[in-house]
Amino acid sequence: MKSKFDRDLLDTLEPYSSEVSVSDTNIIRLHANELPWKNEAILWTLHENILEMPINRYPEVTNSYIRGRIADYLGFEKENVLVGNGSDEIIDTIGKAFISTLDKVLIPAPTFSLYSVITRIYSGLPIVLPLNLDYTLPLENILSESKNAKMIIICSPNNPTGVQYSEKEIKEILDTGILVILDEAYSEFSDQSGLHLLDHYDNLIVMKTFSKAFGLAGFRTGYCVSSETLVESMSKVILPYNMNTISMSVIDLAIKHEDFMKVSVRKIKENRKYLYGSMQEIKGINPIPSSANFILFEAEDPKMIYQELLKRGILIRYFEGKKYLRVTVGSYEECVKFITNLREIFDGC
Ligand SMILES: Cc1ncc(COP(=O)(O)O)c(C=O)c1O
Repeated sequence: MKSKFDRDLLDTLEPYSSEVSVSDTNIIRLHANELPWKNEAILWTLHENILEMPINRYPEVTNSYIRGRIADYLGFEKENVLVGNGSDEIIDTIGKAFISTLDKVLIPAPTFSLYSVITRIYSGLPIVLPLNLDYTLPLENILSESKNAKMIIICSPNNPTGVQYSEKEIKEILDTGILVILDEAYSEFSDQSGLHLLDHYDNLIVMKTFSKAFGLAGFRTGYCVSSETLVESMSKVILPYNMNTISMSVIDLAIKHEDFMKVSVRKIKENRKYLYGSMQEIKGINPIPSSANFILFEAEDPKMIYQELLKRGILIRYFEGKKYLRVTVGSYEECVKFITNLREIFDGC
């Protein structure tokens, strides 16, 4: 549908959807890279404190307390941190602050679809640079394209491939001087982070989120860390009171109960190992080694696999027109069910 008031751009955009609405609570959700567990300690504390919450008052306008809390946790100053209603809002804020009409934004892809959408919303030009066949970064291409570009958005480990890019490559890109957005939504599941590069580079923004390893997708809590200057630029365009009171206390509690994240990450890594090993043994699919909480796998007929799994109550991520699918690493029981059903599908072929 189209209204007479639409910008022309809207003809080329679709409302964001993860293609299936999951109302059936019995379905096994392995499509959105969520954590399978809830942090009960956070819920209990909220339950105890909820009646005292000053919900009639606006939260603090600059989110100063929670920015300081995240900064302390990571070893930065609060001036280096900006919080958002999910890291989605941070991506949007980066677009608002830094993308002018026809600015070129380099996007090695396949990757998270929002980067291109946001670039286009702010009238920039997404320059999609295809990853190498083994899903590594096309470094030569990036370096040559960077000469005319304003910004590059790199996701590491990358969604949907799970591939972690090397620090050497990221430094080479930073050395070009263009603005580098490093999306580390999944870095807790790998053993690497580019946060320490902020000591040496003032053209870097590292984005992070509590949605994945901390299991807080429902509270919409993301943030980025960067130089004081770039954070100040973004602060000029981010909406006032963008974070609600509950989400900010949830961030506080997530840091306080950081052990939940550490234990969850350890379990997900074990399950990932099981999942990857079992997938390798299934003839007809090719799983890609992953540093995240999901595994990409190539297959001849992804649509058939996706539909057959769905019939059996398992939802994974399907990408229209692509030769691969993505499965989230869930609890051990979920992984076993996925593997059992996948084997059955291939035995039946
Ligand atoms: C690479 C990447 N970045 C950012 C996000 C958004 O995360 P948030 O829940 O913090 O908005 C996602 C969500 O799936 C993602 O995959």
